[in-house]
Amino acid sequence: MRKTKIIVTLGPASSTYQIIKALALEGVDAFRLNFSHGDHSEKASKISIIRKVEEDLKRFIPIIADLQGPSIRLGEFKPRELITGKEVKLVYGDKSSNEDEISIPLDIFFKVLEAGDTVLIDDGRISLIAIDVKESEARCKVEIGGNVRPKVTVHIHGKEFNLPALTNKDIEDLEFILNQDIDIIFQSFVRSKEDIYALRKIIKDKGKEDIKIYAKIETKSGMKNIDGILEAADGILIARGDLGMFYPLEEIPLLESNLARKALQYGKPVILATQILESMINNPVPTRAEIVDIFNGISNYVDGMMLSGETAIGNNPILAVRWLRKVIERAEKDVIPEKIKGLNETIYDKFAKGIVLLAESLNAKILAYTKKGTTARRLSRYRPTVPTYVATDSEIIARQINMLWGLIPVKISIDLEKDPVNELKRKYIDNGIVGKGDIAVITIGLRDRATDLAQVDIIS
Ligand code: PGA
Ligand code: MN
Repeated sequence: MRKTKIIVTLGPASSTYQIIKALALEGVDAFRLNFSHGDHSEKASKISIIRKVEEDLKRFIPIIADLQGPSIRLGEFKPRELITGKEVKLVYGDKSSNEDEISIPLDIFFKVLEAGDTVLIDDGRISLIAIDVKESEARCKVEIGGNVRPKVTVHIHGKEFNLPALTNKDIEDLEFILNQDIDIIFQSFVRSKEDIYALRKIIKDKGKEDIKIYAKIETKSGMKNIDGILEAADGILIARGDLGMFYPLEEIPLLESNLARKALQYGKPVILATQILESMINNPVPTRAEIVDIFNGISNYVDGMMLSGETAIGNNPILAVRWLRKVIERAEKDVIPEKIKGLNETIYDKFAKGIVLLAESLNAKILAYTKKGTTARRLSRYRPTVPTYVATDSEIIARQINMLWGLIPVKISIDLEKDPVNELKRKYIDNGIVGKGDIAVITIGLRDRATDLAQVDIIS
């Protein structure tokens, strides 16, 4: 049974019931909607299709809303080609009609930019060197040219803008998201735990505090404040795309392995993202290097891997998932995760670790129950190699469990006041998850934050 989860981004290449269902059947565990692209009506349509697929396949499929966050995009102008070695002018404004000007709608960009800086456009595909910077315009030399389109990302290499945690667009998107059936929010460009508190407050004020927040680590501040972020967030993403806008690209392998280990030490799930099967946007077969990269992610024990353009705009969305699944399955045969010692282990964490070790030594199935998902996260952090089922009576918690390494969610409700262990065991038997002769380690988080009840059983 595959342990590492597969998350894919939906887009124009994956918007019909047929494709979304085929992706789920191919092994997708969760779908991501990227709010940097598209509109609300297209998102609403995808949400209802996913829910239909979920019902038809009788599975729990989390839907993730990925907020654009505090980043800068180019304004409106006529698409054109920038020629290497030539000059181009960046100007402050929403729009520019002048042939050799490109508009940038935020003046803070020109405050941060200094002569000599490298400007990275469209995730670094095009780069400029600033020659002369004024209050609301900058003359630049094209270092690497190419076709430039409006509304694509623009960064100053290595620099950050002091923008609010949530932009006006994010607030409008949240208004929509919090009225939809969404399970998880990915927060982009998180710089410190305060950014997460700001989002958490809005979610709570809407009465949707069950929604989980994963922080995308993609800036230098995010790296620097990673401890606070890991305490405040429900999980993180290693956002290799934008990390490459702030760090030299050769640092990415180390950033990846350090982030993955840190997340495991804090017992928080970690998703690896960006360019995982980039070449498959065009080609039906991955490169050898991409396959090695996936194997390397498994060797870092990440909870899941996420595809972006491969499934959103690529020519081969289904094949991309098939390859990701195949490589993960092969890697998992040889890579057995260590049980990483936590930085913040409570008595309940240690108890969960004991459950995992006990089940592994008995070759038993773990049959757990969680109310809020804390027991689920605790079991997952110790990377149980045995089949691990986690039941809950809440749909949103069941879906969120499907994001965690090695866990299979089940919907069961039990009366915690009476004889919960035996009731839970009976319901697992009724569901066909365990049968005669199976060894089971049954565990229940009885109180909100505790994982504190266990029983070993040979099913008769
Ligand atoms: P994005 O984030 O796909 O929203 O840009 C991921 C990354 O930067 O790697
Ligand atoms: Mn990003």
